[in-house]
Amino acid sequence: MMIRVLIGSGSLLILGGLAAPPDAAAQMPEESCVSCHSAFGDAPLGEPVQAYAADVHAAKGFGCVACHGGDAEDPGMSAMDPAAGYIGAPERDEVVLLCGRCHSSAQFMRRYNPALRVDQVAEYRTSVHGQQLLERGDERVATCTGCHPAHSIKPPSDPNSSVNPLNVAETCGSCHADPEYMAPYAIPTDQHEKYSESVHWQMMSEEGDLSAPTCNDCHGNHGAAPPGVGWVGNVCGQCHSVMAELFGKSFHARVFAMLGNPGCATCHENHDIGRAGDELLGLGEGAVCGMCHSEGDSGGEVALGMRALIDSLNAHYEAADSILAKAENAGIEVSEALFGLNEATTALVSARTAVHSFSLDSVAEQVEAGLAATSTAYARGEEALGEFLVRRLGLAVSVAIILALIAGLFLKIRKIEQLT
Ligand code: HEC
Ligand code: HEC
Ligand code: HEC
Ligand code: HEC
Ligand code: HEC
Ligand code: HEC
Ligand code: HEC
Ligand code: HEC
Ligand code: HEC
Repeated sequence: MMIRVLIGSGSLLILGGLAAPPDAAAQMPEESCVSCHSAFGDAPLGEPVQAYAADVHAAKGFGCVACHGGDAEDPGMSAMDPAAGYIGAPERDEVVLLCGRCHSSAQFMRRYNPALRVDQVAEYRTSVHGQQLLERGDERVATCTGCHPAHSIKPPSDPNSSVNPLNVAETCGSCHADPEYMAPYAIPTDQHEKYSESVHWQMMSEEGDLSAPTCNDCHGNHGAAPPGVGWVGNVCGQCHSVMAELFGKSFHARVFAMLGNPGCATCHENHDIGRAGDELLGLGEGAVCGMCHSEGDSGGEVALGMRALIDSLNAHYEAADSILAKAENAGIEVSEALFGLNEATTALVSARTAVHSFSLDSVAEQVEAGLAATSTAYARGEEALGEFLVRRLGLAVSVAIILALIAGLFLKIRKIEQLT
């Protein structure tokens, strides 16, 4: 049973012992709340009943009283008597306590799903949302039901869940992309729009790669906070660990921190992260090094040097690939050489990764390994085309010999015919 008490300016829900949990396989109980409220159809008083049918709590056997209290056996308006524990529709700041009453209790949740985390409320308190709401009374921020709509809560794995990876951006965007709603705050409202154009969203939505990040992977599920400077590299580093390690050890990491630049995002943006190509490297148009370096300073020289190395590996790769393709078309067996060319592809990836050490030597080392592979492959291509010429010449010679033989035979037969 729940009792509402008032303490100072805010109200608190003091909770009695939790009701014995229903059988996990149980259906939602028959409740007078449902029979009366369903009569309101899709009007605001009836909508919760319709939505709730597909809610995870209904599936676990909880009814309306699990959150609202009241007497589910009373068919009249007195079912909603505060004396029977009825609390009405909770205020925004009460929602956190309401959900936390079950979700913060390891003992209670273990009976349903021991693997489920029980730190949502604790994390939420550390977030900008939680601090604004609980310390400053700002009701515009997200509470639990801002991201998990009160009557259609579903596990993240459910494709229809507001917190399924494919739906999170939309859920956060319902506030963050609404300039009117966000007007009182001095922060941009373009995160959703930019994220929708990113390589991350493309991988997730078009390639079905759920290992690509959406909002909560970078901001935390429940600890959404404005990222600090050091924090950004760590966030990207959860997935791009090699780049993060190289960057972390580089002098840029220290210099950027001093300048207040946000690590990876300085060169890659944060929300509209695009595909990274060689054009980012160097001092030309679209090259990120050119933001701070120019020809003549040592950083600029290194940028140009790295780009030249990678361009040269690219060019040699193309040449080897094209000569092997010619040989293959001519029917010469070159599959081993084509396979060997994979080493050059690997070296190219490693060289692009090594850019994050900002050391010309590291990039050169990878490029040299790649060039060794392309030159072996190219040599095999030349050899194969040579073989092809020899074979063609050989064929011409044997055709000539056969023709001569036939002609000789023909003459011989004519001679024999003339004799007889
Ligand atoms: C006989 C019909 C009837 C029954 C039974 C009933 N309700 Fe209601 N309920 C209403 C009506 C009518 C309203 C709107 C008037 C009001 O707020 O008092 C309402 C309002 C509500 C609200 C919204 C209050 C607000 O502050 O906006 C909630 C929540 C609610 N009911 C939950 C319940 C629960 C939980 C039960 C079962 C324990 C229940 N109701 C049983 C008719 C009913
Ligand atoms: C998991 C907790 C939970 C359960 C279970 C639940 N509600 Fe609610 N309900 C809430 C919260 C929280 C609100 C406050 C609005 C919000 O935060 O979005 C609310 C609000 C309402 C309102 C006010 C109108 C509105 O949509 O804001 C009505 C009516 C209502 N609930 C009826 C019901 C009925 C009927 C059931 C059972 C079919 C039910 N609720 C089950 C949490 C719950
Ligand atoms: C009466 C206890 C209780 C209350 C109150 C409650 N929940 Fe739950 N909730 C559960 C149980 C039990 C489960 C099922 C856990 C399982 O089996 O995975 C669950 C499941 C969930 C899930 C899906 C978890 C998953 O990944 O499977 C979410 C999300 C959730 N609740 C959010 C909320 C929110 C938000 C509120 C407040 C509006 C709330 N809950 C209120 C008991 C409760
Ligand atoms: C800013 C949006 C947001 C708010 C606010 C929020 N959640 Fe969540 N919640 C999420 C996201 C996103 C996930 C999915 C995480 C994932 O993919 O694993 C999630 C997952 C969950 C789960 C499933 C288990 C888990 O931890 O992954 C539970 C339970 C849950 N939330 C309860 C709550 C409760 C209780 C509150 C209020 C204290 C709350 N949430 C507030 C966004 C939010
Ligand atoms: C119900 C509306 C709402 C929803 C939903 C919501 N937020 Fe917020 N969020 C806000 C408001 C309002 C602020 C306060 C802005 C401020 O104080 O600058 C905020 C603040 C933030 C901040 C701190 C911004 C800063 O620099 O101060 C981050 C980060 C954030 N939200 C991320 C998210 C993410 C990620 C999600 C989805 C998982 C989400 N929010 C869902 C309303 C919402
Ligand atoms: C790949 C990681 C990543 C993803 C995905 C991501 N963010 Fe961010 N977000 C960041 C970083 C990094 C910053 C800080 C940038 C800075 O300090 O300049 C940031 C800043 C923010 C801020 C503070 C205001 C601002 O724009 O600087 C908000 C609010 C925010 N993000 C919301 C969102 C929402 C909503 C989504 C999903 C639509 C999202 N983020 C997706 C990494 C990410
Ligand atoms: C949850 C994991 C995850 C997080 C966090 C993450 N990424 Fe990614 N990122 C991916 C995946 C998956 C891909 C697509 C596969 C690929 O091409 O590597 C990708 C692709 C990229 C690409 C394009 C790579 C290419 O080949 O063109 C860049 C650049 C990138 N991410 C930068 C970042 C930055 C910067 C951050 C932090 C602000 C970040 N990522 C955070 C998983 C993540
Ligand atoms: C000073 C600028 C700069 C910073 C800082 C930076 N990068 Fe890069 N990044 C680049 C350049 C330039 C490339 C393109 C290299 C190429 O393709 O030749 C690149 C390429 C990438 C790629 C694609 C590699 C591939 O295989 O094509 C990923 C992923 C990436 N960066 C992630 C990160 C992460 C994560 C961080 C932070 C830990 C980070 N970057 C910091 C400049 C930067
Ligand atoms: C946000 C600004 C910024 C960007 C972008 C940037 N750098 Fe730097 N870089 C610096 C600063 C500041 C220093 C230290 C001062 C100096 O030596 O010019 C530095 C130093 C260097 C140095 C060491 C120079 C020396 O004196 O030994 C190299 C090498 C370097 N950068 C390479 C690069 C490359 C390659 C890129 C592009 C992938 C890049 N930088 C992008 C700001 C930047």
